[in-house]
Amino acid sequence: MLTEISRKRTETGTKTKDIVTMSKKKIVVLTGAGMSAESGLSTFRATGGLWEQHRIEDVATPEGWHKNPGLVLEFYNQRRKQLITALPNAGHLALAALEKDFEVEIITQNVDDLHERAGSSKVLHLHGELTKVRSTGPGAEVFELSPDQYTTHLGDKCPKGYQLRPHIVWFGEAVPEIDNAIHITGQADVFVVIGTSLNVYPAAGLLHYVPRTAPVFLIDPNEVIAPQPHIAVIKKGASEGMKELTELLKAYR
Ligand code: OAD
Repeated sequence: MLTEISRKRTETGTKTKDIVTMSKKKIVVLTGAGMSAESGLSTFRATGGLWEQHRIEDVATPEGWHKNPGLVLEFYNQRRKQLITALPNAGHLALAALEKDFEVEIITQNVDDLHERAGSSKVLHLHGELTKVRSTGPGAEVFELSPDQYTTHLGDKCPKGYQLRPHIVWFGEAVPEIDNAIHITGQADVFVVIGTSLNVYPAAGLLHYVPRTAPVFLIDPNEVIAPQPHIAVIKKGASEGMKELTELLKAYR
């Protein structure tokens, strides 16, 4: 289905021809840890999940960083170690494949790079990125880690001499990309939520910015929100759920 047709007239010699540009519908996708669960990365709030093994206060807050930065660095080094061997799953690949028929923008709470490795071209990381570190000095300059040097330790400093910290948004910190995420959400023709418990704000609040006319799909094997008439729930894991969604989306092309 076309949403917009813009016609441009071009003169080629004596002939005039119409160029028809078809604009693709825009799918905005909000993903969380469940998106990467089938790639072997733990979610946070499940039984045995990351927040059962580590206290949020210790490893994901500025207070934890000030109290024991070595512990925090080690926690994220472990996450990076898992990420190196993880591969995008069928769900990530199916999202990337949607770009053939739609304009797709992914807003992810995940700090892994599996969407990018799957081939998705527009990925906004709300909670930071494991593959980057940043200076604790003024300007908070961000640096890309090279995959063969995927760890940070106490004493690793930026060129200006300040300790490097994970490029992660911790609890209690501002979420610098939230305004971008709200803007993108407001442009959705279709909005999709995959693998997030919707416990963490402001990410969970993005649902309030979805245009009323946009259908909303939610893929999760567990019930995350009370049933709502405007949200179509696909109660499956990311890979199976994306297979089903890809079929359903054919009606929106
Ligand atoms: P959670 O651990 O809170 O939620 C994960 C969701 O994934 C749950 O709703 C599960 O039911 C679902 N899930 C599990 N397996 C799945 C699968 N195979 N396919 C699809 N879904 C599956 O993780 P998030 O909602 O992402 O932030 O957590 C949000 C934020 O809280 C994270 O970004 C992180 C965390 O603290 C920071 O650390 C700053």
